[in-house]
Amino acid sequence: MENQETRAAVMERLTQSGGHGVLRFLTCGSVDDGKSTLIGRLLYDSKLLFEDQLSVLARDSRKHGTVGEEIDFALLLDGLEAEREQGITIDVAYRYFATEKRKFVVADTPGHEQYTRNMATGASTADVAVMMIDARKGVLIQTLRHTYIARMMGIRHIVLAVNKMDLVEHSRGRFHEIVAEYMKSAEDLGFETITPIPMSARYGENVTMRSESMSWHTGPTLIEHLEELDISADIENEPFRMPVQWVNRPNLNFRGYSGVVVSGSIKPGDAIIVAKSGTAANVSRIVTADGDLDEAVAGDSVTLVLNHEMDISRGDVLCAAEERPEVSDQFAAEILWMNQDDLLPGRSYLLKIGTATTPATISSLRHRVDVNTYEKQPCRKLEMNGIGMCNVSTAQPIAFDPYHKIRDMGAFILIDRFTNQTVGAGMIEFGLRRASNIHHHAMTVTKAARSQIKAQKPAVLWFTGLSGAGKSTVANLVEQKLALAGHHTYSLDGDNVRHGLNRDLGFTDEDRVENIRRIGEVGRLFVEAGLLVTCSFISPFRSERQMVRELVEANEFIEVFVDTPLEVCIQRDPKGLYKKAKAGEIKNFTGFDSPYEAPENPELRIDTSEISAEDAADQVVAYLRETGRLG
Ligand code: ADX
Repeated sequence: MENQETRAAVMERLTQSGGHGVLRFLTCGSVDDGKSTLIGRLLYDSKLLFEDQLSVLARDSRKHGTVGEEIDFALLLDGLEAEREQGITIDVAYRYFATEKRKFVVADTPGHEQYTRNMATGASTADVAVMMIDARKGVLIQTLRHTYIARMMGIRHIVLAVNKMDLVEHSRGRFHEIVAEYMKSAEDLGFETITPIPMSARYGENVTMRSESMSWHTGPTLIEHLEELDISADIENEPFRMPVQWVNRPNLNFRGYSGVVVSGSIKPGDAIIVAKSGTAANVSRIVTADGDLDEAVAGDSVTLVLNHEMDISRGDVLCAAEERPEVSDQFAAEILWMNQDDLLPGRSYLLKIGTATTPATISSLRHRVDVNTYEKQPCRKLEMNGIGMCNVSTAQPIAFDPYHKIRDMGAFILIDRFTNQTVGAGMIEFGLRRASNIHHHAMTVTKAARSQIKAQKPAVLWFTGLSGAGKSTVANLVEQKLALAGHHTYSLDGDNVRHGLNRDLGFTDEDRVENIRRIGEVGRLFVEAGLLVTCSFISPFRSERQMVRELVEANEFIEVFVDTPLEVCIQRDPKGLYKKAKAGEIKNFTGFDSPYEAPENPELRIDTSEISAEDAADQVVAYLRETGRLG
């Protein structure tokens, strides 16, 4: 068999440097478009398969294959798939192969709609996206979505692989029809090259070998194209950037900053600055496991030693002194949402960029992109697989470059703070200037002074629970008791605030998030004023309650869970709303068709079906006294 190259020989060939360096690509397409067959074919034709794998494959193909005596390449990948399942949790498999001219890394990403996340992961490091199209089906929504994501992830080259040409009689007309349709949508997205190739992956036509049945195709085969494509992105000529992964301090005589150079290059003697603080130093050594370097370039893992000690920690970015990144806590970004739960503006997520992590919220959603038409549409939330332009606001300023300039400096992920899942991927487009022109004004009369005058420690008393649970009743009694004892108070209440400040908000999830965000900010102002402020809101989401908790100091947020059972609330029904909800007259009613996430660790828990409102209020006041809030 001609493919009996030994494992050692293949490895040898892979480690030799190819003429054009490494090309990274990913294949995109729906489930049956032939991605697996194509990758299998590329691996097979480039002789990267080992003899043992090949004989198993031939045997299996005869057993299960659907192509007669031919080898079914999809089976090969399915085999790898099983291997992959045992390896657990990688949802993108990278495969390596080489030809005389170039080495290749191909990201194999599952094609189901819900796997957009995997496609995005694969795309974030790829140079080229191969869009697989079934010639019988033509351009699908999936194709357009993947094209858009590829563009968004910074891919500059597309191969339009019109596959299964054997099933449309190798029709030139059909091929051109599909190309025209694709171009209509993709042309304006700004790719550098879009290269259509008619092929049949199964029979190897126009993959590595020319097809006699499609002699009308004068362009390259897939492999010819991938071998010759110029992808020099000049990342080494971009300004130097290195996010610090850790401070390397094995003993008192050595201190270095370790990380991967993500763009540019650096030499001993070069001036660097720390992006956020702007402090400067010179590089004195570039240390690696294999000894010191005279120069490090993008892609190198190094430890930099500087000429003097500096305050640098994980998350800081070391940069070329004369070309600094932007530093801001507000910026515009395109976000791909990848979670079942919608992205809601105002909700707090963790944002991870480079080696830095900080809480962040989407301060506004400018528009979403319809992936069928690439039209911009107004929206108030993003659903799974949705793509939107957002303004993002971070708790701490971050250092970044626009994604399209330096991918690794402009890409971030959003993480759900409770489940720890990656829920979104974002690409920074530009910093928002207004942020840099607004500064906190230092007040002469401080919170401490204000509360001293009032002889109390301010706090937010946050009453959460179902409608009719008794939140307002208990809060009202608490305020009364405090006022009678000479304390300074204020009270914020759902029904009242919704008549004024929040009169524009309803009861959808996104409106409830915004409702609580605003109340949280107002609550914080009252705490600044030195007051004891009661807040009575259903506040059904733990995310937003947590957000308010974090707006004030550690002991200033007291969560009172008014834990009255739903049945009791329904029975009480003080405003007749449960009756209306039952009759279907009110939508999104908490406890019916809108969720309530109970607090896990409230400071106080009250069940007003067990104790009177008076007793409940006494408990709250007692808690304040015991924790020293009442002076
Ligand atoms: S929250 O969910 O955003 O925190 P909030 O506490 O401000 O709600 O408002 C709840 C009050 O609005 C309820 O006590 C009730 O009187 C009224 N209301 C009207 N429609 C609804 C609804 N669909 N769900 C819950 N409360 C509603």
